[in-house]
Amino acid sequence: MNSPLRIGIAGLGTVGSGVVKLLAEHGRLLSVRGGRPLKIVAVSARSKKKRDIDLTGMRWEKDPMALATAPDIDVVVELIGGSGGVARRLVQKALASGKHVVTANKALLALHGTELAALAEKKQRSLAFEAAVAGGIPIIKALREGLVGNRVKRLYGILNGTCNYILTTMRETGRDFDVVLAEAQAAGYAEADPTFDVDGIDAAHKLAVLTGAAFGARVDFAGVHVEGIRRVTSMDIEFAQELGYRIKLLGLARETRHGIEQRVHPCMVPLDTPIAHIEGVFNAVVVEGDFVGTTMFQGRGAGQGPTASAVVADLVDVARGRDMPAFVVPAEKLATKKASPMDRHVGAYYMRLMVQDRPGVIAAVSGALAKERISLESMLQRGRSESGEVPVVLTTHETEEAAMRRALARIAKLGAVAEEPCVIRIEAF
Ligand code: HSE
Repeated sequence: MNSPLRIGIAGLGTVGSGVVKLLAEHGRLLSVRGGRPLKIVAVSARSKKKRDIDLTGMRWEKDPMALATAPDIDVVVELIGGSGGVARRLVQKALASGKHVVTANKALLALHGTELAALAEKKQRSLAFEAAVAGGIPIIKALREGLVGNRVKRLYGILNGTCNYILTTMRETGRDFDVVLAEAQAAGYAEADPTFDVDGIDAAHKLAVLTGAAFGARVDFAGVHVEGIRRVTSMDIEFAQELGYRIKLLGLARETRHGIEQRVHPCMVPLDTPIAHIEGVFNAVVVEGDFVGTTMFQGRGAGQGPTASAVVADLVDVARGRDMPAFVVPAEKLATKKASPMDRHVGAYYMRLMVQDRPGVIAAVSGALAKERISLESMLQRGRSESGEVPVVLTTHETEEAAMRRALARIAKLGAVAEEPCVIRIEAF
């Protein structure tokens, strides 16, 4: 029997416990697939509370940093989370001490991925993070291995299950964001502090990591334009349906002549595209390669089983000695690419206004658009009101975002426009 791969796990929350369970349940199978046993020798967690996992034979380390230097550990699995603090110190120290590292920590990678990849390569150790992006979907492996022959033209995806669940439920029930969020929190689908999810930050972390791997670029989280889903109303979801779209929070990346465009925001996605039908907590990633064409991966982006599945896939790679640079090309060869400014984004737009129902309002709105040479594609008005406001929805042909913003500033100032217009970018796939 070959010598076991000796594992130390830092963090025994949902994912850590899932890894312990998976390795216990599939121990024999994995020792065949990995070419040697995968053995957890030590674990560390904040509290010693009772868990439904069997830790027999595993050393308990009070301080996770002890895993980084323990002579009987080959690979540290970091499941603590957070972009700094203990997680960052642990990963740095483990790599510096010659351990391999497997992590599910997207925030850490989004902010320090390039520097950690460089350290791993210098030490000739693996830094693997399949679980950090889209949970159980093997998208990092797809970029590193199956699609490695392609230049990626564009990549986009539903990268946050909480937002997709909220948007799906809003559409299905007609309820508004706040109500659905509160229900999701009560049911345990959304965090007590939902900021990272609903404001798009979690998706932006994942997109930054994907962009690095897909485009051979240094990870640039600061270059991601981020908007969340708080301003999407059930009215917009209904209009979207009527216009042939579904509203999804997408992360999108592509190279433009102005640099790399990375953006996370609600999008109008045409109903005849497969990604429009990824619903509930599911995630999906679409990669368009120059030789392969369009590929789509879908699955569960979070949860104990899917995330543990991704962590264990990385552990089997380490056991087999299968290694690639963390971001597909060596860290020193990752290009520093300019972030394309959002003002330069070119696309079509959906705009919903709440306006006083009186003559001349639409003329004033279309005048503001015409002044910026923005061409209208369609217009809808619903209802009739002598006193209150009515929604007016306009969709445009392709235009530059800077022009759209100038037009919006004018429109928002019109006396008949009652509240800040709701604008959602329309994506063409
Ligand atoms: N909170 C994330 C989501 C899962 O809702 O998709 C972990 O990244």
